[in-house]
Amino acid sequence: MKKVLIDCDPGIDDALALALAAGSADSLDLVGVTTVGGNVDLELTTANALALRDFLHLGDVPVTPGSAGALLRRTVRATAVHGTTGLGDVVLPTPARGPSEGHAVDFIVETLRAAPGEITLVAVGPLSNLALAVRREPRVVEWARDLVIMGGSYTRGNHNPAAEFNMLADPEAAAIVFEAGWTVTMLGLDVTLKAVVNSGVLDRMRPLGRLADLLVPAAQFYGAVTAEGGPAIHDACAVAYVLDPTLFTCVPAVVNVETAGEFTRGMTVTDFRVAGRETNALVATSVDVPAFWDLVIGAYEKLATR
Ligand code: BDR
Ligand code: CA
Repeated sequence: MKKVLIDCDPGIDDALALALAAGSADSLDLVGVTTVGGNVDLELTTANALALRDFLHLGDVPVTPGSAGALLRRTVRATAVHGTTGLGDVVLPTPARGPSEGHAVDFIVETLRAAPGEITLVAVGPLSNLALAVRREPRVVEWARDLVIMGGSYTRGNHNPAAEFNMLADPEAAAIVFEAGWTVTMLGLDVTLKAVVNSGVLDRMRPLGRLADLLVPAAQFYGAVTAEGGPAIHDACAVAYVLDPTLFTCVPAVVNVETAGEFTRGMTVTDFRVAGRETNALVATSVDVPAFWDLVIGAYEKLATR
């Protein structure tokens, strides 16, 4: 059983990533969800996480809000992609309970302190909370079992030609996280854009009862604003990696986050020439797409029967 803490900004694909975690409860123990301002404002990412906790039967998993914005930069949002609420035109029932007391950064630090070497951090939003956790308690780097992020790319951007959204939204935080001394497993656009919800995948989601009421319209909303053969549910790749790393090929690299460039801010400058050098990242370079969807749909099917 892998213990996982998910830091997120739901977000359509964040929701589908949480659904994957919920449907994988037999192998993944979700110890907490922390929220960050990203795709939409923190109030909305937190409200969405709370509604998803109920809808996805996540039980008592604590949901703790964190950083409302970037460490230094003006706020960038992705409402054009995720809609004004963050979940497209999906409206989930009002959550029964509110968020946990306290701040996500404290939750991350204390949760890792209590179980050193046990918890995998999965970050699928801007890295503001993680950067603040590293500054507040540098030992989180030793305590984390692993850090897996959805973010960045070594080939391209999506928010602009150079930068992926999560990196661009808080580049200084991303730089702090990549420089912290752990190995960042980076599931970037290079692989996430391969795992798109095409019509065949959508057909496998349609029979999933009430879960389909989230998955299908969310994917369709996302698909209407993203091209390239259907919407990529980027964030689910990070959870899928934790569940089955063999779905992806990952290559050691040195990754630096550009924070100063006028046109390249947020770019993850990735150097695969690592001979004799200390690396700070494992970068995903390929994904077994059919096996990825079998894993994801299999988890959704389990969840749909609960
Ligand atoms: C990432 O940006 C966000 O809009 C998505 O939720 C995902 O985490 C993709 O670039
Ligand atoms: Ca996200």
